[in-house]
Amino acid sequence: MDKIIVLNGCIRKEMSRTLLLAKEILSHFKNVNMEWIDLQKLNFQPVNYESYILRSVGKCDSKVVKYAKKVQNADLIVLVAPIWEMSVPAMVKTFFENISIPEITFKPVKDTCIGNCKARKMIFITTRGMNVKPYSELDGAAAELKALCSLWGIHDFEELALNNCDYITLKEYQSNKEKLLNHLNKTNWYQKQ
Ligand SMILES: Cc1cc2nc3c(=O)[nH]c(=O)nc-3n(C[C@H](O)[C@H](O)[C@H](O)COP(=O)(O)O)c2cc1C
Repeated sequence: MDKIIVLNGCIRKEMSRTLLLAKEILSHFKNVNMEWIDLQKLNFQPVNYESYILRSVGKCDSKVVKYAKKVQNADLIVLVAPIWEMSVPAMVKTFFENISIPEITFKPVKDTCIGNCKARKMIFITTRGMNVKPYSELDGAAAELKALCSLWGIHDFEELALNNCDYITLKEYQSNKEKLLNHLNKTNWYQKQ
């Protein structure tokens, strides 16, 4: 059975439209082993001098290693997070900074690194305030996440986004959401994942 990990990087808890959107999309995944990980609850801190020194001699916090291995061994990684400052919130970046560990998520080989994650794909479910076209040069999240997938050896990345959310009416937002969900249904998107 497929192991899916869902990295919840939504800060606004039950007020989060991204989280609600993701729950609706992910409710269509059947016969999978899905684990939700609430990044806010983990409360990881950015790597600092002390943790850097420990990491450089292979001494990572055991909780961090546990989540690094979950990322390493998932068949599919779903990141759920809003756009903040044209990319993902710092909490998400902090999680990735912590769990991206040599010999777990990637392997240093000669003069480069090769990916060591099993996942066939990363799906990024997001909402953003502004009308930015996904994958355009203003989509800092897609650029960063695609690069990270490359480091980890994940060959497929897809962003599912609702845009302009802060500048449209609730009715328009609901209609955009319905359009996206209908599109996923009509194109058999769930079966293809
Ligand atoms: C701190 C903060 C930073 C934001 N930065 C951006 C941004 O750079 N670009 C953008 O399009 N929207 C930005 N937004 C708007 C959010 O992306 C938008 O409201 C989103 O739908 C919020 O998702 P949520 O309801 O899941 O929290 C920002 C919102 C906050 C609170």
